[in-house]
Amino acid sequence: MGFKEQIDTSRLPEHIAIIMDGNGRWAKNQGKFRSFGHESGVLSIKDVVEGCSDIGIKYLTIYAFSTENWNRPIDEVNALMELLISTINAEIATLHKHNIRLNAIGDIASLPQKCIDDLKFAMEDTAKNNTCTLTLALSYSAKWEILEAARKLALLVKEDKMKIEEINETVFSSQLTTVNMPDPELMIRTSGEHRVSNFLLWQMAYSELYFTEVLWPDFRKEDLFEAIVDYQKRERRFGKISEQLN
Ligand code: IPE
Ligand code: IPE
Ligand code: MG
Repeated sequence: MGFKEQIDTSRLPEHIAIIMDGNGRWAKNQGKFRSFGHESGVLSIKDVVEGCSDIGIKYLTIYAFSTENWNRPIDEVNALMELLISTINAEIATLHKHNIRLNAIGDIASLPQKCIDDLKFAMEDTAKNNTCTLTLALSYSAKWEILEAARKLALLVKEDKMKIEEINETVFSSQLTTVNMPDPELMIRTSGEHRVSNFLLWQMAYSELYFTEVLWPDFRKEDLFEAIVDYQKRERRFGKISEQLN
């Protein structure tokens, strides 16, 4: 039996977040340039998005470019930005085919103008799709996001639009880039690295973490289904004890 058949569709995670990692090592293993790894990684994204659509995952968030990734060699940064633009434009039809809405989080204004324009077009064009929301984290870091939220709240207090006592988890969450999304129940990282690299630090407070040795360009929907099967075997206690759960 494949992993897909083992999934209990009545207990799916609503939101899956993925730290796709290992493109560079995958390419290097084959004596190719790192950019070849990134290009191949796009096929994995396509397959995983299709997998989410197959089984009914509502939100998929993919870490595509971190704030820290700006520190990579300029050629690699440029290649990633160009790949982003070409992929967005090439995949709009596929997004419509699967009724997927494209969304982006991060410091989008820091991206090259062509990226901003094409992203904006694709997001507006797919805004009415409602099977799944695919969010690309671009120029994203969780510390940046949390600081931005703190600044916005501080301003509201300063302008007498909010009282300090009114700031609670819900209010804080509403200032984050993931507003209107549930927190990810499952967070996956590929390539054998066991760290979260500044991704969704607030939202992952109770995420189930899943690490796999598979390098991102080798990751396919079957690997995603395997992760979901693993997730469904876990007991999520949220601080309680086993006997308190029904
Ligand atoms: C992940 O693969 C893609 C991005 C961070 C953009 P890497 O490029 O980090 O690949 P490795 O970790 O060097 O193998
Ligand atoms: C994390 O991958 C960022 C993305 C997946 C976009 P990195 O490969 O940049 O992470 P670190 O720096 O090795 O932790
Ligand atoms: Mg990496």
